[in-house]
Amino acid sequence: MNLVDYLRVSLVDRCNFRCQYCMPEDAALQFLQQNELLQTEELLTLLKQVMIPVGFSRFRLTGGEPLIRPDVVDIVGEISALPQVQDLSMTTNGFLLEDRAAALYDAGLRRLNISLDSLNPETFGVIVGDRTQKRWQKVWSGIQAAYEVGFNPLKLNVVVIPGVNEAEVLDLAALSIDRQWHIRFIEFMPIGNAELFGERGWVPSEEIRQQIRERWGLNPGFVKGNGPADVFQIPGAQGTLGFISQMSECFCDRCNRMRLSADGWLRPCLLNETGQLDLKTLLRAGHKMEVLRDRVQNLLLLKPEINYKERESGTDSTYGRTMSQIGG
Ligand code: GTP
Ligand code: 5AD
Ligand code: SF4
Repeated sequence: MNLVDYLRVSLVDRCNFRCQYCMPEDAALQFLQQNELLQTEELLTLLKQVMIPVGFSRFRLTGGEPLIRPDVVDIVGEISALPQVQDLSMTTNGFLLEDRAAALYDAGLRRLNISLDSLNPETFGVIVGDRTQKRWQKVWSGIQAAYEVGFNPLKLNVVVIPGVNEAEVLDLAALSIDRQWHIRFIEFMPIGNAELFGERGWVPSEEIRQQIRERWGLNPGFVKGNGPADVFQIPGAQGTLGFISQMSECFCDRCNRMRLSADGWLRPCLLNETGQLDLKTLLRAGHKMEVLRDRVQNLLLLKPEINYKERESGTDSTYGRTMSQIGG
């Protein structure tokens, strides 16, 4: 049985981008009201008194876009100061990073994963729903700022979209050669927006690896991480290349994580709702922490069954919620 000790904590369900694969502009998305969000004290109580005592020690802050939470730096500081926390990281779209990178680092954050789906401002604008095409530059500046401040490893996430950014994979892979940047190619998942990219909805990681092998060669690689990426390296490169291949190879049987959504639902699996637990309501109802711990512990015992349920049910993983709503 896998050790489940990695919690992805969504700080907010809203986002300042409208990535086509996540929350397209025309989608009828409903966002949480302020009082529905886990308040910071509630979040910290759940981490300190429930999640850490039952064994979680690695945390990733996600969204929506975590940097739009006004007290994000304080939250980072509080979590990174907990002695049981072995790893704290964040996934962000990078738009607000330039101004915040130093404060986040000072607060104790050391690892960042930033979405960068294209090197072309126009293509980037199409993907993230930015008609002004000014966002690419700001994200790029955010990435540079994070690199200069010392975030390490610094990972750049690329969701590969057929016919949109597919032709850029070699240019993106090349970013790993001269800098310690870790580029990760992600197979597009049909969650939320299954119909979006037509018949050829996703590009198999192996196709990208083959292009890279032909150009530079490809060795096995290593970079610190808790996620499902398979890591490789261009010979002699400073950074690595990761491949997240949830469509071509199911990695549910090595799943090590749960998610805490911005409204306080603990979700054992990204792709099915089995067992999800409304921790916020239990907390607000004034139950003893022991009761909450017991409930989470039971969920941990059920987790392998929940992972496999997805496969046995034979669904195509299409799921009505986007990443941002599930909890990054
Ligand atoms: P590291 O600790 O750096 O390895 O982070 P990570 O890869 O876990 O985090 P990140 O937020 O960068 O996630 C990258 C991608 O992994 C996401 O876009 C998803 O496509 C995929 N992913 C993350 N968690 C899950 C999961 O539980 N199930 C599936 N199917 N895909 C996931
Ligand atoms: N398929 C694959 N990756 C996705 N992300 C968001 N939606 C999807 C999807 N449908 C990615 C973002 C970010 C990470 C947290 O999730 O690009 O890097
Ligand atoms: Fe926002 Fe990230 Fe979703 Fe893009 S993928 S819309 S940046 S939450």
